[in-house]
Amino acid sequence: MRTQVGIIGAGPAGLLLSHLLHLRGISSVVLEKRSRDYIERRVRAGVLEQGTVDTLVEAGVGERMLREGLPHHGIELRYGGAGHRIPFEKLVPGRAITVYGQQEVVKDLIAARLAAGGDVRFEVEDVEVHSLEPGSDTGPYVTFGGERLDCDVIAGCDGFHGVSRPSIPEDVLTVFEREYPFAWLGILANVTPSSEELIYARTDRGFALHSMRSPSVSRFYLQVPADTRIEDWPDERIWDELRARLENVPGFSLTTGEITEKGVTPMRSFVVEPMQYGRLYLAGDAAHIVPPTGAKGLNLAVADVRVLTEALAAYFSDGSTALLDGYSEACLKRVWRAQHFSWWMTTLLHTFEDEDAYGRRLQLSYLDYVTSSEAAATTLAENYVGLPYGS
Ligand code: APR
Ligand code: PHB
Repeated sequence: MRTQVGIIGAGPAGLLLSHLLHLRGISSVVLEKRSRDYIERRVRAGVLEQGTVDTLVEAGVGERMLREGLPHHGIELRYGGAGHRIPFEKLVPGRAITVYGQQEVVKDLIAARLAAGGDVRFEVEDVEVHSLEPGSDTGPYVTFGGERLDCDVIAGCDGFHGVSRPSIPEDVLTVFEREYPFAWLGILANVTPSSEELIYARTDRGFALHSMRSPSVSRFYLQVPADTRIEDWPDERIWDELRARLENVPGFSLTTGEITEKGVTPMRSFVVEPMQYGRLYLAGDAAHIVPPTGAKGLNLAVADVRVLTEALAAYFSDGSTALLDGYSEACLKRVWRAQHFSWWMTTLLHTFEDEDAYGRRLQLSYLDYVTSSEAAATTLAENYVGLPYGS
């Protein structure tokens, strides 16, 4: 088998890349370890930056998102017994976010690929990448389940635990990493959201986030210790803790009900440099992870894929490698901005066990600054809705 771009992984990065390449007349095969059903149900984050929304719409895969997604023009920061709105419409006019689950984006992309006759293979076993070395005589190829796929280029879109990144010789890569001493316990519930906008709550019991998926489905997260077992959190305990962390401003009461999904997500910051080796290019979580507090993971994957698409289009049209050679550098600027923003939001809003009283005062002082100074609030808002591409 032969294709121009072998894509490992059918998350948002791999699927969007395959679709954008198809629009440029470039062939690809997507190889995914899990079943279609599994990846369409996998609940992840759900905040799309303006640029992500625009990208999906321009690519013709935004129709359902525009219909069912919830545009939001602000978020609330809640702490010290009061809520403070960060008004995007005032601070970053014309830019907003759309709340739409990542697995819905995945469903839309799979449907678009299959409708266009795209080659997306699920439940593919033992994927390995070969012959990556720069200047190697044979082109790169991928083996899987007894088959071989020859390609001009391989895109490693297989997430943090994939095979692509570990296939790069260790001495080529520099890893930048930070772990956090806590995780997020996330739930989906069949309850009407108790707020029109997302609430990021900092309390002495830990952080809580009220998000949503639709007018009848809410999504919540609780900061929990890193070694938390979901079995120790029956539904009633989750609701009690959410009430304790959210029902602390006058007039707010949390609507509770049936929980349909529960999970614990570890928190990590991670970047590998460079994001490429020979004819292998990493995109999305395969190259970098952010803690979910800034809601940047999916949006960064989309930004990488846009850059890679342009570089591959140039390469396949006239053989020029300048954009491909500069791929990593072109992505890393935005990657590091999102790293900083996600680390900053995380540090601002979570409780840290080893934090002393001085550190807690600094945190509260910064929250007061962000919620009272237009300059500081604008910093949060422009990063949250996403900086323009190329900046
Ligand atoms: N072979 C084939 N597929 C693999 C392999 C492998 N060895 N290892 C992992 N995969 C698949 C996973 O099953 C998954 O479907 O690669 C896909 C990677 O998708 P994501 O983890 O969703 O990563 P990405 O597409 O980069 O999207 C980034 O996803 O993790 C969230 O928060 C993150 O929102 C961000 C977004
Ligand atoms: C979500 O809705 O899943 C969500 C929202 C905001 C975040 C993270 C996750 O910062």
